[in-house]
Amino acid sequence: MVKVKMFEATDENSRPSMDAPKTDAKAFHDIVNSRRSVRFFADDVIPQDVIDQCLDAALKAPNSSNLQTWEIHHVVDPDKKKELVRLCLGQPAASTAKELFVFVARPDLWKRNNKWMLEEFDRRGDMPEKAYQYFKKITRLIYTTGFLGIAAPFKWLFYNIRGISKPTPREPMGRWGMTVWGHKSTALACAHFMLAMRAHGFDTCPMEGLDSKRVKKLLGLPRQAGITMAISAGKRAEGGVFGDRFRFDIKHFVIKH
Ligand SMILES: Cc1cc2nc3c(=O)[nH]c(=O)nc-3n(C[C@H](O)[C@H](O)[C@H](O)COP(=O)(O)O)c2cc1C
Repeated sequence: MVKVKMFEATDENSRPSMDAPKTDAKAFHDIVNSRRSVRFFADDVIPQDVIDQCLDAALKAPNSSNLQTWEIHHVVDPDKKKELVRLCLGQPAASTAKELFVFVARPDLWKRNNKWMLEEFDRRGDMPEKAYQYFKKITRLIYTTGFLGIAAPFKWLFYNIRGISKPTPREPMGRWGMTVWGHKSTALACAHFMLAMRAHGFDTCPMEGLDSKRVKKLLGLPRQAGITMAISAGKRAEGGVFGDRFRFDIKHFVIKH
């Protein structure tokens, strides 16, 4: 039997070397600095290939265990779109947008994706045994919550007893923990998507000002799915941004130890 340590480094021989390509830091910071939450969009259409590239960029976001427990619902049906605008409380960021997307965390799909991962490993046939074991054993240990979260107290006990003598990962714990877990990765996909839109000269507005229960119903999502946020997109209209960007002083947020 192979004993698997949770986050053990693989030995150097099993790590393929990957060159870090040259990048353009200025181009990146130009995108970051010019991304704003846009509340009014112009009539310009976003070309389909731009949308496709931005969706692709979203799905390249880092995500926990690479289990990709997220979905992006692109609402294009005119009736559904109209209803989604209503469920986004009619805010102009939604009503004037050319395109509307809903980013959804699907922690409930981790087992399906875990199975896909093992099938992919089988197809590749050259995955290190440690990677196999991670998705055969460790993910089960970390992400299983059991029926109605029954596993949570047992996990709590296990983590806390083990944690007395050694560093122990303690999250995600129960179903709520899995909800947070799902939103973390999905929010990163949101950030990738918004920055990608900006890179293509378009703009976005993230929105949590919405009726998540009704949005879930509109999209046919199960109870365990979580709406991370809706994101509207289009070309920034004149006056579409509310004022200059403002952030509190960095000294409050970056803490050196
Ligand atoms: C999770 C999240 C939810 C947000 N919800 C809304 C929203 O419902 N409506 C809106 O107009 N802006 C919304 N925003 C945009 C923020 O107000 C905006 O990011 C913030 O004011 C900073 O401005 P900036 O994005 O232009 O830098 C949301 C942003 C985030 C990250």
